[in-house]
Formats: sequence, structure tokens, C-alpha cells
Amino acid sequence: MARVDLDEVRKVYPNGYVGVAGATFEVADGELLVLVGPSGCGKSTLLRMIAGLESISGGTLRIGDRVVNDVAPKDRDIAMVFQSYALYPHMSVAENLAFGLKLRGHDRGTIEARVREAAATLELDQLLDRKPGQLSGGQRQRVALGRALVRNPQVFLLDEPLSNLDAKLRMSMRVEIARLHRQLGATMIYVTHDQIEAMTLGQRIVVLDRGEIQQIDTPMALYERPANLFVATFLGSPAMNVLRGRLAREDGWALALDDGTRLPLAGEAGLREDWAGRELDVGIRPEHLQRAEAGGFAPTVEVVEPVGNEVFVNLRQGAHPLIARLPPGELPQPGAALPLRLDAAHLHVFDAGTGLRLDA
Ligand SMILES: Nc1ncnc2c1ncn2[C@@H]1O[C@H](COP(=O)(O)OP(=O)(O)OP(=O)(O)O)[C@@H](O)[C@H]1O
Ligand SMILES: [Mg+2]
Repeated sequence: MARVDLDEVRKVYPNGYVGVAGATFEVADGELLVLVGPSGCGKSTLLRMIAGLESISGGTLRIGDRVVNDVAPKDRDIAMVFQSYALYPHMSVAENLAFGLKLRGHDRGTIEARVREAAATLELDQLLDRKPGQLSGGQRQRVALGRALVRNPQVFLLDEPLSNLDAKLRMSMRVEIARLHRQLGATMIYVTHDQIEAMTLGQRIVVLDRGEIQQIDTPMALYERPANLFVATFLGSPAMNVLRGRLAREDGWALALDDGTRLPLAGEAGLREDWAGRELDVGIRPEHLQRAEAGGFAPTVEVVEPVGNEVFVNLRQGAHPLIARLPPGELPQPGAALPLRLDAAHLHVFDAGTGLRLDA
């Protein structure tokens, strides 16, 4: 296995479009790193540059200790798994698994042993004689993974490998990939636009937006201390509430919204004097809007969504929609006012102009 090291790696497409603007990060040996971001942010471009399928316009890419900017894909010792499984329909599962090894001129004994081993790891033993057309989506996905596995590469690159599967299968394959990663101790770079997949699978996550890296950290660190408004609202479901306003200090702190409403805050932990009066975007995770007996503020309940173990309550405070995540129990009624408590300690405070976290 090997580490992967990117130093200001850039992609400018021939039409001048900047697909990736100077990406710098290192993937440690044996790490599972996730690249996440919305559609078109440059995830595949970045992964394809690492794979060698896309030329690098600037910067340095190393795999292990070797600079590979100009090394052909087949000589980079990587294996890539695509969203479209790209299996050969006329070949059996066994032949599909063996194909890449045959091309590389491995001997028959090695090929058979590696195919057997990969099939056992991925529980494909019973399916080796079938054609891809005779497999379920999840089984096909496992074959696609198996094709990468038999290569025993230094680095695995996976580009949205689960997005063709239904939600339930995606979840079980996710666990499968995490288990595989642990078992192999492999270096893996995993691309997804799905923030839940990113959070559950990544040891660290690189968040991309419009070709630029927004933040790199562990899942929980990203969730608890997003560096900017983009990361704050991209990770987390339901998404973080954001209110534009000013913090004011009188008999205690309050958040004054631009429509004149004042939301009193409980406590003052984490708040700084010099934030008062400044225009801010204030973020509150849905689980941090807690029910209160009295005091606080009381937005109007619009839609109640019970999901069993918790309840999402869609609210309106003047012009501002809010969402709260409450424990199950007595469901609030649409149209009623729901008293809530806003803890100062749970606020995420961003500059309204730059979107950057103020206490970063
Ligand atoms: N050959 C090209 N020429 C010009 N622009 C391109 C080219 N290929 C891709 N792009 C643009 O580069 C940007 C990044 O594309 P990329 O495929 O990396 O996005 P992505 O993050 O993988 O998105 P998705 O989640 O939809 O797969 C997009 O805006 C895309 O339109
Ligand atoms: Mg893509």
C-alpha cells in the first residue's frame, strides 16, 4: 500500500474551465479518504487525475514516493471502480475477475488463486459461472469491486460505486466496503455526493465546492466545527438552520433578525463581545432547537414528520423557515406555537459577507 500526496494539483479544461483549483492534501497509507461535494464540483476530475485518466494541468501528484504526473495509468499501480460497473456482459463472473490479470500477463496459477480469494472475500463463490446479466445490482457491484481487488493495487479509487443501488442495498454495501477496507488495510479514495455515505465511510473527508477544497477533517470535526457556511449546510440531514441577523446584548444575549424579531439565547457560552452588532449568519443544527416550557421563542408549526425514533418539525418564525429534530412523544400540532430554547453554546456563527466561521 502507499500514500497519495497532492500538491496544488490543478485541472484547467481545454475550454478554460477550472475543474479543480489547486488541491493540496495527503492520503495516508491505509487511509480511507472521502471526496464529497455537489454535482459538478470536481470530484471525478480530481479522482481521474489521480488515476491518470485525465491530464494534470499543474502541481505535483505522488503515489508512494514517486511523482506520477506523467506516468501512464497502467503503471501507477492503482485500481479504479466506476459508478457504471462496466462489466463484460459476455464473460462469466470468473472471467470478468480474471480479465485484468490476464491482460497484464500473470500466469494461470496466480490468476486462479487471486480470483478464488477475491470471490471468497466478496461472497461471489457461488456466482462465478454466471454472466453479469444474471446478477442483481448488488452482486454486479461486488464483481466490479472484485475486479479491483484481484489486482492487489497500492491504491483503490472509487467513484460513486454505490449510486446505482437502492437505498437499502447501498447501506449494506457501504458496510461491506468499510469491512473490506479494514481487512485489506488498503489506501482508498472514495468519491460520493452523498453526505451520509461520506460521514459514515470516511476516516477523513475532503469537502469540495466549485473546484475548491472547503475543508478537510474527520467527519465529526466537520460536523461540529464547519469552517464555512457551505460545509455547515452541506453536511447534516436535515440541514443546519441558518438565520441572517445580528447578535445583541442587553439583559442577556439575543439574536435580532432582519425582520425585527428577537430570539433570546440561553446562556452565553462561546459568544464574543465583538460579535455584537455585526451582520452574521447564525447556524443552528435541528437537534439543537430544543423544546422549552416558556421563555425562548415560539415559532409556528407547519409540517410534522414523524420518522419513528425522532420527529422532524418544520416551523416558521416570521419569514424564516426552521426545522427542529425532536424526540418522539407527543407530536406538536400544525398551526400551534412551539416554545423552543436556543442555547448560545450550540450556535455556529459565520460572517455574513465571507461565510467564514468566526471562531475558526
Ligand atoms: N472535458 C471537459 N471540458 C470542460 N469542462 C468539463 C469537462 N469535463 C468536466 N467538466 C466540468 O468540470 C466540472 C467538474 O466535473 P466533474 O465530473 O469532476 O464533477 P463531479 O463533482 O464528479 O460531479 P458529479 O457528482 O455530477 O459526478 C463540471 O462543471 C463539468 O461540467
Ligand atoms: Mg462525478
